[in-house]
Amino acid sequence: MKVLVINGPNLNLLGLREPALYGARNFAALQDFIRSSAAAIGVDVELFQSNHEGAIVDAIQAAYGVFDAILINPAAYTHTSVAILDALKAVALPTVEVHLTDISTREEFRRFSFVSLYAQKTICGKGFDGYKEGLEYLKSLQ
Ligand code: DQA
Repeated sequence: MKVLVINGPNLNLLGLREPALYGARNFAALQDFIRSSAAAIGVDVELFQSNHEGAIVDAIQAAYGVFDAILINPAAYTHTSVAILDALKAVALPTVEVHLTDISTREEFRRFSFVSLYAQKTICGKGFDGYKEGLEYLKSLQ
């Protein structure tokens, strides 16, 4: 099984970025964690990160016919992007949405997720472990 893992804007600054919320580990550590979690459960992953909405839309479109599923942390675009929602609906791959923090208990503007309108599962507030849980869920769909 091939899963495209997408991380959105500012997640490349993990470690530096609001460590009280997002933790002290950096983005390289998250990438290592995702790769080792995927290897442990027998899933092939490709990792993609962008700070640009259109680049994320392009990556989702390019996943069609290449990947079996998508794991996405859309970061701030979670709450704003109809374009990312539409791209996910267009390619119609099994999709899990993951957030490091629990967006339901933060500011009001973070409580709505466009991506949740398509994603088959949303995992919030579990830090790095949420990515592993998401990969396990996608694997269980096979
Ligand atoms: C986030 C939550 C979003 O609200 C925020 O904009 C992010 C990260 C998370 O992983 O908790 O950039 O997706």
